[in-house]
Amino acid sequence: MERTFVAIKPDGVERGLIGDIISRFEKRGLKLVGMKFMQVPTELAERHYGEHKGKPFFDGLVKFITSGPIVAMCWEGKGAIALCRNVIGATKPADSAMGTIRGDLALDISRNIVHGSDGPESAAREVGLFFKDEELVSTWNRTIDKWICE
Ligand code: RTP
Ligand code: MG
Repeated sequence: MERTFVAIKPDGVERGLIGDIISRFEKRGLKLVGMKFMQVPTELAERHYGEHKGKPFFDGLVKFITSGPIVAMCWEGKGAIALCRNVIGATKPADSAMGTIRGDLALDISRNIVHGSDGPESAAREVGLFFKDEELVSTWNRTIDKWICE
């Protein structure tokens, strides 16, 4: 089972899309193991987006992600990292397929409403940045899991 970090960015929160977005991951069969409604401090935002430091959009990205509350989540499931990226859709909303979160709900790259870890290393790093071990629920065995995964 994989775990990945997903966040509803300030634009998704502001637009009242929290329920719609969470529901897409739930309905896909993923299991929620951690969730926080929080305002991201600048230092955490800079670490989270550290790979983009020096790029022209970095300062604007940090300013945006710290501008209002986000919903930070950890989702677990078979192939959860790639699966969540697919549920979210391509970075540029113009390229993201209909049926994805960005393809259905966004139209600008700087307001693409959701973040998802892009690989196993970033997933482990980002889950660790936003959650302490004890904030993740590891003891929950859902009774429906046998109907979702063999
Ligand atoms: P995210 O990290 O937010 O899940 O997005 P991503 O993997 O699909 O895209 P990434 O390349 O990691 O970029 C991170 C975020 O930076 C903003 N961005 N703006 N103006 C630009 O050219 C540009 N490029 C990237 C986007 O908000 C993107 O989600
Ligand atoms: Mg990324």
